[in-house]
Amino acid sequence: MKFLTTIFVSVLLFGTNLMSANFGTTNTRTDAMINGKSVASVTVLTPVEIVKMSKELTTIKIKGFRLENYPQMVVRDMKRGEVYVEFPNENEELASKSFTIIKKYEDAYGEIWHEVEGEFTINSAAITNDTDTLIKQAQKTYEQTCSMCHGLHKAKDFTVNQWPHQVESMMTEIPLEKPIKELIIKYLQHNAADAK
Ligand code: HEC
Repeated sequence: MKFLTTIFVSVLLFGTNLMSANFGTTNTRTDAMINGKSVASVTVLTPVEIVKMSKELTTIKIKGFRLENYPQMVVRDMKRGEVYVEFPNENEELASKSFTIIKKYEDAYGEIWHEVEGEFTINSAAITNDTDTLIKQAQKTYEQTCSMCHGLHKAKDFTVNQWPHQVESMMTEIPLEKPIKELIIKYLQHNAADAK
């Protein structure tokens, strides 16, 4: 019994430790900076770990996956290409060294993936810990923008990797500004068939 109690207390303490890590979500596309210089973009609705927060700037940690032969893009995981971070195409070397490799994997197609982690500074205004409100706003934008011509498609009708193409194919019907388009794609990806 005493043994069990010890386990229980350990789990509880460990749980508290995990809880004390502070997480947030980007509420807009924003610059990822290293030593005060912008190196990449973090997309809207990207989950981040908050390392240090001040009024102006926040140090964050981002975890994700990237293809070995295209380090300029960091995505959610090997199956779900929800974009988290984008480096300019020409900055392969900078992209490569801005994230640390945690582990390497080979997928079913023989592609090599890196599980990566990177630390950056972003504007504190670009981050929120009220993800629910943010998602509700994104849902509203989707519902208002995409229900004009046909019934709303359920987010679950397509996968994380299919949604960007589906939304892109609507741009001849309804040209959207990039931030709106990205928010809609992210909302749909967060609720897609394989999102959970
Ligand atoms: C101006 C009218 C219009 C608006 C606004 C519009 N659509 Fe469409 N949508 C269409 C038409 C027309 C089709 C059928 C022809 C086609 O597939 O291109 C369609 C088809 C679709 C399909 C079905 C494709 C398939 O494979 O079955 C999806 C998904 C879709 N739209 C998503 C969206 C999303 C997401 C938005 C908001 C960004 C949107 N639509 C806004 C006109 C529109």
